Amino acid sequence: MQYGYFDDAHKEYVITTPRTPYPWINYLGSQEFFALISNTAGGYAFYKDALLRRLTRYRYNNVPLDNGGRYFYIKDGETLWAPGWKPVKTELDRYECRHGMGYTRIQGEKQGVAADLLCFVPLDYTGEVQKLSLKNTSAETKTLHIFSLLEFCLWNALDDMTNFQRNFNTGEIEIEGSVIYHTTEYRERRNHYAFYAVNAEISGFDTDRECFLGLYNGFDLPDVVKSGQSGNSVADGWSPIASHHLKLSLQPGEEHSYVFILGYAENAPDQKWEVPGVINKRKAHTMIAQFDTEQKVGQAFLKLKDSWDRLLNRFSVQSCDENVNRMVNIWNQYQCMMTFNMARSASYFESGIGRGIGFRDTNQDMLGCMHQIPERARQRILDVAATQFEDGSAYHQYQPLTKRGNDAVGSHFNDDPLWLILAVSAYLKETGDWSILDESVPFDNDERKAASLFEHLKRSFAHVVNHRGQHNLPLIGRADWNDCLNLNCFSTNPDESFQTTTNKQGKTAESVLIAGMFVFIGKEYAAICDHLGKAAEADAVRKQIRDMEQAVIKAGWDGAWFLRAYDNAGQKIGSQECPEGKIFIESQGFCSMAQIGQARNLPQIALDSVKTHLDTPYGIVLLNPAYSRYYLNLGEVSTYPPGYKENAGIFCHNNPWIMIAEAILGRGDLAFEYYQKICPSYLEEISDLHRTEPYVYSQMIAGKDAKRHGEAKNSWLTGTAAWNFVAISQWILGIQPDYAGLRIDPCIPAAWEQFTVRRVFRGSTYTIKVNNPEHVCKGINSFSVDGKSLPGNLAPVFDDDQEHVVEVTLGA
Ligand code: GLC
Ligand code: GLC
Repeated sequence: MQYGYFDDAHKEYVITTPRTPYPWINYLGSQEFFALISNTAGGYAFYKDALLRRLTRYRYNNVPLDNGGRYFYIKDGETLWAPGWKPVKTELDRYECRHGMGYTRIQGEKQGVAADLLCFVPLDYTGEVQKLSLKNTSAETKTLHIFSLLEFCLWNALDDMTNFQRNFNTGEIEIEGSVIYHTTEYRERRNHYAFYAVNAEISGFDTDRECFLGLYNGFDLPDVVKSGQSGNSVADGWSPIASHHLKLSLQPGEEHSYVFILGYAENAPDQKWEVPGVINKRKAHTMIAQFDTEQKVGQAFLKLKDSWDRLLNRFSVQSCDENVNRMVNIWNQYQCMMTFNMARSASYFESGIGRGIGFRDTNQDMLGCMHQIPERARQRILDVAATQFEDGSAYHQYQPLTKRGNDAVGSHFNDDPLWLILAVSAYLKETGDWSILDESVPFDNDERKAASLFEHLKRSFAHVVNHRGQHNLPLIGRADWNDCLNLNCFSTNPDESFQTTTNKQGKTAESVLIAGMFVFIGKEYAAICDHLGKAAEADAVRKQIRDMEQAVIKAGWDGAWFLRAYDNAGQKIGSQECPEGKIFIESQGFCSMAQIGQARNLPQIALDSVKTHLDTPYGIVLLNPAYSRYYLNLGEVSTYPPGYKENAGIFCHNNPWIMIAEAILGRGDLAFEYYQKICPSYLEEISDLHRTEPYVYSQMIAGKDAKRHGEAKNSWLTGTAAWNFVAISQWILGIQPDYAGLRIDPCIPAAWEQFTVRRVFRGSTYTIKVNNPEHVCKGINSFSVDGKSLPGNLAPVFDDDQEHVVEVTLGA
């Protein structure tokens, strides 16, 4: 069953019932101020850092689900309702939620009153604008009471939900006209405050939650709303909220709009106070004046739309498959931007508390949005490289607010260093900006230990070379990409986390995945050395790569697929010999992408084994057979019930590695079959089973061993977004930015007749027309640029602001 539909012309997903199988959310903001918003107006806002600067409170895993957000109560006589259905849950006569690019519009209608709530974060603005329009669609005059509501978080989101002995005393508020200021802790070390404003005279307000709701009520029926009169309460400790009370009379056909603003402002330490005890509100006044009319809001909304159009227009495809078109042109690119912005911090599955920006995660996320925001990626690369240690290893994550490495998720994940090389090579291919390699970048955020970015790459590569085991394969360290394959952990204590507990020295456990990554990514490092004229380094690198290939062929091949690892006792993981977990996806993906053992056909044999053992109707599972019990020597991977997460779930992040490997082999039909299986827009009709949003990828879909095979969890913040965009755009459609130009090498379903891509690349726009008269999957018969036939398949860099036409004919 479907719960809505795609409106591609408006780049929107339209939800037609509030009762979706799970809250279906969107993100507002893409610079410094962010908010999450569900299809019933739930969610929360924060400035830069979801842990340290949380503006509004949200309760995860709450009952009922998804309570708390920006709510508007409408009291029309005895009828009480809300435009987004929640929290009141009065049945609406009409409901619609449109999630668009950086905005959400929720419309509800009840008894002759139509409400239209538009929420977005304007560009270069640290606040959420909410335009609420109400229209009388009946034949009588309507007299309405409107109450807004949001609940403030006391800034530190973790402290806010745990430290009640303090928190119940600190809450503070100031009120000025129609503006409610949240000033908790401003008297001491905080130089920031939040405010909630409306551009109308109010009939009352509330800022104390208990007075507004009543001590024993939920959000669904606050005392104040029931009575129709605000309490004008001023919070003093306990839980500060902001609620405005507006009275509105509408003639038949008449419409009125309000603009609400939830804003964030910072003052310099010596400018905090107007007079002692009264905060300096100048910044808030300016922000409020920016959007005090509907017209100003309308203009900002157009600017926002325009900026998204420009971002998305840098890559677009017209193919015969509308799902491909909408995912590539709209939703997959949009999700890539969100993963870049949010990392793994704040979603409806990530609480915004546990994780900052992950080293491996952000390096992979950038692969999906390099073409959209190369300048921001440049800065991110420099930031993340600065959290590297001198030996090439890295903090596993850092806090966005401080840009400092954070030990909360441990370190010594031995795959980490290689992802930096991959991100930098993608940046160079996209931009040709080689100057980034000369940037001086600290190690461990210590300026005294700065070196060029190139030196960082060198140490990344060397870290793998210097940490190898008895088979000459890379040591795994705490874990590699698979956080849950903890081969040096041996944890028997349920009270410790696998991510941070003390590791064994780890001189034995080796990773075939890191070996595959080393070969695939190492080739990029060698190419970078070539470009810089560092011939000796390039030769040395290539020799290391050859040695690694030999090590994999000798000790990493299991007969019909690549092994996954050796454990601490030197036993094979992911082998025919193993009773469970005989085959893993990761090493099949990366070793095949790296074409290890190509001369002996190993990639094809490995990929055939993936098809046989790992493929399901809903995607490729991570391993098979699932582990049925806990294995001390394997760690967290075996803690999950069979079919979930890393224990044989369909971990969508690495499905595209198989798509890419298939595309390299030339098997376009298979590559595309795998693409379709996990691509959300194809799953719209099975939303009852899939449950998460049909417009974005989820991290995991339950695997074939799970009781709920096909059910997805953890939507939005996953490396799945970036890797699927890489798979479809670079390997299936085959538009590959390369160091010296734009390489075109499609690998498509044989049935496709043709497709066209429009791609902005290094200051020019390329229109790439691909024809497939012989119905092949791969191979180029003719290649021309601006009518001139060229050998090979590389379109040159023009950097001339002009349009160029590339014509490609596929053939055997
Ligand atoms: C999560 C993590 C990612 C890891 C993956 C597999 O998605 O964010 O870093 O690679 O799980 O364990
Ligand atoms: C858990 C999850 C894994 C994630 C990790 C991040 O181990 O299972 O997917 O990558 O936490 O901390």
